[in-house]
Amino acid sequence: MDQKKVILSGIQPSGIMTIGNYLGAIKNWGVMQDEYDCLFMLADLHTLTVKQEPARLRANTYELTALYLACGLDPEKSVLFLQSHVPAHAELSWILNTVAYPGELSRMTQFKDKCARHADNINMGLMDYPVLMAADILLYQADVVPIGIDQKQHLELTRDLAMRFNNRYGDTFKIPEAYIGKVGAKIYSLQDPEKKMSKSDENLNAFVSMDDDTDTIMRKFKRAVTDSGSEVRRAPDKPGVTNLINIYSLFAGKSVEETEKEFENAGYAEFKRRVGEAVAAGVEPIRREKDRILSDKGYIDKLLASGAERAAAAAERTLRKVYKKVGLLPRVKA
Ligand code: TYM
Repeated sequence: MDQKKVILSGIQPSGIMTIGNYLGAIKNWGVMQDEYDCLFMLADLHTLTVKQEPARLRANTYELTALYLACGLDPEKSVLFLQSHVPAHAELSWILNTVAYPGELSRMTQFKDKCARHADNINMGLMDYPVLMAADILLYQADVVPIGIDQKQHLELTRDLAMRFNNRYGDTFKIPEAYIGKVGAKIYSLQDPEKKMSKSDENLNAFVSMDDDTDTIMRKFKRAVTDSGSEVRRAPDKPGVTNLINIYSLFAGKSVEETEKEFENAGYAEFKRRVGEAVAAGVEPIRREKDRILSDKGYIDKLLASGAERAAAAAERTLRKVYKKVGLLPRVKA
């Protein structure tokens, strides 16, 4: 019998979730649950690489778990868990550190960006971040990792570390592939369509949060930057309109060609209004469902406890194998 392929992905519970995270990540995950063995993690250890307020981090962790569920991730089908609840992540990351080079880590684009943005807190965790991410993936022998384009470089590093380890110690890790959606792989800022949509943007009109209400969403799209000309069509010199076409297509469940056809005779103002409506219609029910789920923290705690147990069982199998390969004695019960 064919074994199902294993999928693993994660998001940091570090505050606002944008429609970029939704379209680039969670939305794709939901449809993979039937076909694959899926593990969806909250990368809470990763958030500590930038300063977090502890009470806020706890609240954000509940929020993101509720959002996973509200977006259709089903704990009966997939394993939903917190990275920090499965100690094997930190343990494997230590061992992978011994095959990772400072040169390759300091070359990572995101590391350089974050050093520039958090100059007052350049810590080892920030540099080591991709090694922990590699541990997340390799522990579960994941075949496929669905991510947005900004994480591609980290996935390439994961593959390099896995191959290096396998070469040195013998076949241990499966080499994972990235899955990057064609349309949602990079959603751009509504104010500067050359830049990634990011929750840390100082201009609040640049991103749409999954927590924004309908009025706010409509206002943000009304103010979205478009390009010269008046046609609704994708083109390299029309980054603003191209981004809006992508966003509309994903929320309306249409192809980009259908979207261009639909707005053939529309002006930019009408187009932006319709994009806003489509986004609001998608975000609103998710927001309500998230708030409903959040009102029962006991349920979330239970679900995360059971997710951690299931994840740990799989993770520990790989960790035992790794310990053996490198020459650490197996842990036996006293
Ligand atoms: P994070 O939390 O920054 O982002 C979560 C996911 O959202 C995608 N994304 C976007 N996609 C399209 N357009 C955008 N504007 C946009 N912004 C964000 C990201 O590509 C990502 O897929 N290190 C990871 C979390 C992580 C992880 C892992 C992911 C930890 N361990 C193992 C996969 C596998 C991160 O910080 O993602």
